[in-house]
Amino acid sequence: MTRLTVNGSTKLYGIIGNPVKHSFSPAMQTQAFQAMDINAVYLPFFIQESELPGILNAFQITRLQGFNVTVPFKEKIIPYLSEISREAELLQSVNTVIRTATGWKGYSTDGIGFVKAATNAGFQISDKNILLIGAGGSAKAIALSLVKHHISSLTIINRTLSKAESLAGIIASENSDIEITVNPSVHKKYDLLINSTSVGMDGKKCPVDDVMINYCRAVIDIIYNPSQTPLLQKAVQKGIPCDNGIGMLLYQGTESFEIWTGKKAPVNVMKDCLEKSLNSV
Ligand code: ATR
Repeated sequence: MTRLTVNGSTKLYGIIGNPVKHSFSPAMQTQAFQAMDINAVYLPFFIQESELPGILNAFQITRLQGFNVTVPFKEKIIPYLSEISREAELLQSVNTVIRTATGWKGYSTDGIGFVKAATNAGFQISDKNILLIGAGGSAKAIALSLVKHHISSLTIINRTLSKAESLAGIIASENSDIEITVNPSVHKKYDLLINSTSVGMDGKKCPVDDVMINYCRAVIDIIYNPSQTPLLQKAVQKGIPCDNGIGMLLYQGTESFEIWTGKKAPVNVMKDCLEKSLNSV
């Protein structure tokens, strides 16, 4: 790997959020630029909501090339963008922004990040029966991406029924061929269970009971810290193939890199960096 050189031609990228201190992206993206011999650095920008217009002004003046957006600005950034992708429009969520000739264009790479991680880890998506736990922002992004990859059926379980129904409506309007069920009382065999809720982040709770896990042939929990949630521990005990959310985190980042640079992201470099960052938490 080349040594980090910062000079008058260095291009700027970054991430805006509140908080942003714990983000793994500055290290991961800067190492990716270095690995690809791109003269660029990626910095964290901790801002208040009232500072959004000001930071975009600053980004214009400093010719910052692109940035990520994290909580709580994924929706709030939208009015400041000149263009957003169809997916970001549907989700009302932007996590990646690139400078264009006329302003800023926003994308959401969360959903594609999930699908890339799952398929690269050997999980099948096309023609499969999927059980999705949760109906928040992450669930929506994942569900929309699953639809694009032609799943057979989608069952959504969420604590708040109205949110699950609203997500089911969005998915049905995207593809009327997919069988969609919300909070079912009777279960069938699922090819893949995805936990998109925060339940399990405490290392104690499990978002589904043991009976439901028995209906599932594979499990992905999008939580990455802890790396093995109670849900994943149960899957391991039962011999069910499973994975955590590190892959989704990685591939949403590789997608951002590719949007900004037009170059294939150095996946292994980014993965190593992410694993090292996680191990030092
Ligand atoms: P994100 O953007 O990370 O998806 P979010 O939009 O706030 O965050 O969504 C959080 C999801 O986790 C929701 O599905 C939420 O359920 P509700 O829609 O009922 O709020 C789910 N969730 C969070 N805490 C939960 C808990 N203790 N039990 C069950 N579901 C929970």
